[in-house]
Amino acid sequence: MPDLFAEVVHTSRAYLRDSLSHAGHALGLWHALADPVPLPQLAERVHVSPQRLRPVLEAMRCQGWVETDECDAWQVVGAIPDDTTVIKLGWGLLGEVLHDDIPLDPFTGLEVRDAKLAWHIYQARVHADPAVELASALKTQQPLRILDAGGGSGVWSSALMRACPEATTTIIDDADTLAIAAALLDQADAAGAPGLRARTLLHAADLRQELGVGGFDLVLLAHVLHLLGPSDAAAVVGTCVRALRPGGRMVMIDLALDANRRGPETALWFAVDMAIYTPAGRVYEERELQQLLEDRSMEVIQNMTLTSAPETCVLLAQRPA
Ligand SMILES: C[S@@+](CC[C@H](N)C(=O)[O-])C[C@H]1O[C@@H](n2cnc3c(N)ncnc32)[C@H](O)[C@@H]1O
Repeated sequence: MPDLFAEVVHTSRAYLRDSLSHAGHALGLWHALADPVPLPQLAERVHVSPQRLRPVLEAMRCQGWVETDECDAWQVVGAIPDDTTVIKLGWGLLGEVLHDDIPLDPFTGLEVRDAKLAWHIYQARVHADPAVELASALKTQQPLRILDAGGGSGVWSSALMRACPEATTTIIDDADTLAIAAALLDQADAAGAPGLRARTLLHAADLRQELGVGGFDLVLLAHVLHLLGPSDAAAVVGTCVRALRPGGRMVMIDLALDANRRGPETALWFAVDMAIYTPAGRVYEERELQQLLEDRSMEVIQNMTLTSAPETCVLLAQRPA
């Protein structure tokens, strides 16, 4: 089950549901949803930002607690769920985050380096099988110069370098994260990997700033865009596209919502997580991700399915030659 967040949903669904229901009570949402009401008016009525409220309503719809009509007005259906006591930490603060419109810092109260290390080790584990599957699908194209943008642990580019012995990678991320990537690459080498550390350049930079033009055959942009609002997401895709050589390819990987925004369930829950923990992050619809590429003249040549991460959207796109 290696879609990002699928494991959390699988093991903690009751906690997520309780937090959602409790936030509904704390914000007076259930009362406000007694009659059909469009999202902007509802957000105004309960004094929360529509951007953060939307994923909450969509997750509630997935639980069968609310529904939308043909005019996109929201209303409670059936019995209002009980107000269960929740621990006032993390998701238990969903109501407060919406009310204050201030996201939580995921690392509060933790030693940041340890917490980031644990976060990237978790992601490296979750993404290991999908990364091997993707590498196997891409290896015939023999990408030589890979840019792993927001590469984290480097799990995706490491799999590609294992599959393509000539390939080299530049990972761009923040300095703390790159130190983690260096340590994990060293560990992989010590365990017999084919010189991954020596073939990887670690470059601390902000992906929204210019990365240089035309130097890469393949850009990987995996699980980054959900952290960003639309203008930052567009800026990041722009710099990544410009970093490609003409004819070069880009793989955009992320959880994505269906066009009707009713699934997949993991993506709906993950969108609430982004509303809690990021200033403007969100789960984009698949067609929005595609549009980000097409707006920069990229041709989407394949919508890939990874059997080891069936709910993850994987778009392969090419820059015109
Ligand atoms: C969810 S992690 C994904 C890591 C890796 N690509 C993976 O799939 O396992 C997102 C990564 O993007 C990085 N990131 C987000 N915004 C960034 C920015 N503006 N510039 C550089 N890195 C960024 C974060 O530091 C983090 O390491």
